[in-house]
Amino acid sequence: MKYIYFMCVAHIVALEVGPLFLHGCRRKVHLHAPRRPDRDRRPAPCQAPRRDARKLAASNRPLPPPYAGLPNTIKTGYSRPQSIDLSPGRRARRMHSTQQIQCCSEEYAMRIAVKEVVPAFVGQIDDFPFEAMDERVIGELRAAWTAYPILRFRNVAIGDREQIAFSHALGRPVLHPRQLQQGKNEEFPEILVISNKKKADGTAAGDLGDGEVNWHTDTWFVERPPSAAILRAIELPQEGGNTYFANMYAAYAALPASLKSRLVGLSIHHQTVIDGRGEVRLGMTRPASPNYADWPGVDHPILRRHAQSGKTGLYLGGSRKHQSIVGMAQDEASLLLDELWARATDSAHVWGQEWRPGDMMMWDNRCALHRRDPFDPGAIRLMHRTTVEGERPMAAW
Ligand code: OGA
Ligand code: MN
Repeated sequence: MKYIYFMCVAHIVALEVGPLFLHGCRRKVHLHAPRRPDRDRRPAPCQAPRRDARKLAASNRPLPPPYAGLPNTIKTGYSRPQSIDLSPGRRARRMHSTQQIQCCSEEYAMRIAVKEVVPAFVGQIDDFPFEAMDERVIGELRAAWTAYPILRFRNVAIGDREQIAFSHALGRPVLHPRQLQQGKNEEFPEILVISNKKKADGTAAGDLGDGEVNWHTDTWFVERPPSAAILRAIELPQEGGNTYFANMYAAYAALPASLKSRLVGLSIHHQTVIDGRGEVRLGMTRPASPNYADWPGVDHPILRRHAQSGKTGLYLGGSRKHQSIVGMAQDEASLLLDELWARATDSAHVWGQEWRPGDMMMWDNRCALHRRDPFDPGAIRLMHRTTVEGERPMAAW
């Protein structure tokens, strides 16, 4: 079975390595191309192997985290933990953070308990039943994730196989180009290694190094950016390397009415040539034209309707530097983009994750931005990420 799965993944990689981006089982990413229903039909989905999670848990020991827990002390616009009742058919009922979710009958007993960390933004699940993921658990997880786009899992004692199975329960895997470069995991192609570790020859053994990572959503420059990213801490520095999330529903809601209506019909042109660090992406060459509005790329609406919640959020992608707005003169677009980025990342909508051993974060790239603090280059930070496919951003107008 493992062999079949490996062959399946190898096949995907072989098919997709030519284009810029590897995207589940689709054969091509049509940047900038109009959708054609006849061509857009997907080949049969590539099935993940059905694995017995209990056996996996026994066979795949997690690495021990290297240091004791830290208090979560980041000051942001959000505070006051609470928990919320997500029982099917019931209205949300807030409770004190120390209570578990209340259930009214055996029939409705919830299998996962979600503590509210930030209302309608961050939830926490301690002791998620990775070893017993059935339809009910996944259904509850989806409901929790729609209510809380940022989920923090605590006391996570799983390895790569379980993380891949968990990720796959939410949708097909997406492979980032860096999974073929410095972020490659030799054993599991689905894992993107986020680390400042070095190989014996001195080259990077992970992506993102030890520096600051600016505000972005993941892989915004493709037609169908990923929905979830799931990041599991394996080794952490004593301090630094915190990850911050900005709530794009809240950022949109806080816009003045005049700006909300000005954004109707506007899309950002996300060029695909230069990445967030100013480097030329895999397989691309820098165009001769200095006008990046003409560079190859993909257009996404600024006001995005979330496919599950139906709510409107700002969708700004990443890498502000080379952005343009479709049909708008660059001077005007630059001013508008600066204003939007400033409003989107206002600390009022930001919450910070100070990592503890056993933490795993799952974020929704469709309605949240994230950034990371730098950390001591002498320390090691090692995280494993899996990524779930998303849909083409829908305009909220
Ligand atoms: C990512 C990312 C931030 C972090 O994996 O996409 O932005 O905290 N990571 O490592
Ligand atoms: Mn990211």
